Amino acid sequence: MSIKEKYGSLALIAGASEGIGAAYATYLAKEGIDVILVARKLEPLQKLATELSTKYNIKADCITCDLASVNAAQELVDRLKDREINLLVYNAALSYIGAFEQNTIEHHNQIAQANMITPMNLLQIFGTEMLAKKQGAIILMASLAGFQGSGYLSVYAASKAFDRVLAESLWYEWKNRGVDVIACCAGATSTPNFIKTNPEKTSFFAPKVQTPEEVVKECFELLGKTPSFISGSGNKLASFIMQRLMPRKMAIKIMGDTTRKMYRL
Ligand SMILES: NC(=O)c1ccc[n+]([C@@H]2O[C@H](COP(=O)([O-])OP(=O)(O)OC[C@H]3O[C@@H](n4cnc5c(N)ncnc54)[C@H](OP(=O)(O)O)[C@@H]3O)[C@@H](O)[C@H]2O)c1
Repeated sequence: MSIKEKYGSLALIAGASEGIGAAYATYLAKEGIDVILVARKLEPLQKLATELSTKYNIKADCITCDLASVNAAQELVDRLKDREINLLVYNAALSYIGAFEQNTIEHHNQIAQANMITPMNLLQIFGTEMLAKKQGAIILMASLAGFQGSGYLSVYAASKAFDRVLAESLWYEWKNRGVDVIACCAGATSTPNFIKTNPEKTSFFAPKVQTPEEVVKECFELLGKTPSFISGSGNKLASFIMQRLMPRKMAIKIMGDTTRKMYRL
């Protein structure tokens, strides 16, 4: 059964204009699914929408919305004007790399809003609608950073732990009610955002940086089969060693040391 037959014909991708978000939108458009692309800047959204609608003969609409704003979820719902969302991909995230106390309270709050509160509210709204129809799918982007304390990425890492646990919990609650939920726990992925942070290669053994397309392909292969997954074999191995074979204290130290080296902190 195709994704469209299984879940329906309209997807909303939050954080869609580039990187992993654009790869999700492209994958779904290729499957013949209409897409609603959401991000803050209109121009990159429109460029992608034109490309997808021309190439795959689907309808692609754009909504500009700051997902870090307090009313983002309701604002999005209002602007959808009763269009029925069959698949929700929540990809957008804010992060701050550096010492916790050196960031502002305002920015910490924006990270919490964009990474936790807005997706939680969207899951409540769209999840309830999907449950009523007994059909739908929700993908939440999480991260390897959320598997243990990650110094210098503290609030981001904690927010990604929240996303994973939320998705896994709802996978359990909704799995026999027609709604599939999955958390995609990515490692380093070559998105414009990741490249912009100018990371330094930290060790010969560091897992290979994945492409957005690799992450998305694996996610759709596993949607409906598992509550969460770690993308890529290198990341799976690194995570297995850190989570299962090492004392937690050592895993936390490795994450903190790696981030410090990677970003020359
Ligand atoms: N890249 C990695 O190495 C990596 C590793 C692990 C996990 N992840 C996870 O993968 C997801 C994508 O990561 P990425 O940073 O590489 O991004 P990305 O997939 O390149 O996309 C970021 C998208 O989100 C939009 N966006 C960002 N902030 C937004 C906001 N406040 N409101 C609305 N839209 C917003 C951006 O457009 P605008 O700027 O126009 O808003 C852009 O379309 C995130 O959830 C991240 O935690 C990434």
